[in-house]
Parts: sequence; structure tokens; C-alpha cells
Amino acid sequence: MIVVWDKSYEIGVEQIDRQHRELFARFDGLMVAIGAGEGAKELQRLLGFLEEYALNHFREEEALMRSCHYPLLAFHREAHQAFRERLGSLVAMIGEKGASPQLVTQTGRMLLRWLTDHVCGMDRDIGTFLLTGRSAWSGSGTGVAAVGH
Ligand SMILES: [Fe+2]
Repeated sequence: MIVVWDKSYEIGVEQIDRQHRELFARFDGLMVAIGAGEGAKELQRLLGFLEEYALNHFREEEALMRSCHYPLLAFHREAHQAFRERLGSLVAMIGEKGASPQLVTQTGRMLLRWLTDHVCGMDRDIGTFLLTGRSAWSGSGTGVAAVGH
């Protein structure tokens, strides 16, 4: 499967978009490494990156949502927290058992789901909100539909 960044995924805030592009590139890096038989080695690097990403990127995204009075901030923060917890479990498992092929696959799946459901869903909803303004916003994106707004 090829997962490629597309301009339509942008939310219109350069710093956040750059970080999202980087995440796509990291996923691609994992896929390339798996293809080259170096998935386990890349996984160690990727997890280090993701731990930092889950702190700094999420914090910046949440600050953005706060500053524009985004109505789904609490729901969005829960999704970030759930990601941090899944990441923490993976790091713990890899610490115990090492980077097995199974854990490489599991991490790849988690990241793919995050890119498609979160970055291309809930995060894009922020962009829609910023673009159309609070009053005109109906919340038609996938992430919003998931909470029934
Ligand atoms: Fe997010």
C-alpha cells in the first residue's frame, strides 16, 4: 500500500502541516525499511520519533484548537491521549521482548490507521473549521461524524 501526502490533507497552518507531512514520511520510511528487511532497526528510531511527536505536535495542535475556540477540543484531546497510551504499550512491549516482526507490523498498522483516520479525518476538521468559521461550520468530516455532532 502506498501512503502519500496530498496537499488536500493540509489544515492551512504551516507548522502543523509540516509535522503531518513528516509523519507520512516516517510511515513511508518504515515501509521501505520493512521491504529492505530492516524493519526492526527502523522501528526503534520510529518509536523515539513518535514519543517526541506525541508530546510536541499534539501540544501544538491542542494550543491551536484552544486559541480558535475549537468546539471539539476535548474529544480531540482524548484521541491524542489514546494514541499516547497505545504508543506507551508498544514501547513497553518492545522493551520487554525486543522489536519482533509482529511488533513492527503492529506499529505499522497503528500508524497507518492514525494517518487515515486521525490526520486525514479529525485533523482536517480543524482546517475546515478555521476556513469556514465557527458559525458556518457543520462538522461534516469523518472525525466529527464519529461523535454524532
Ligand atoms: Fe490531532
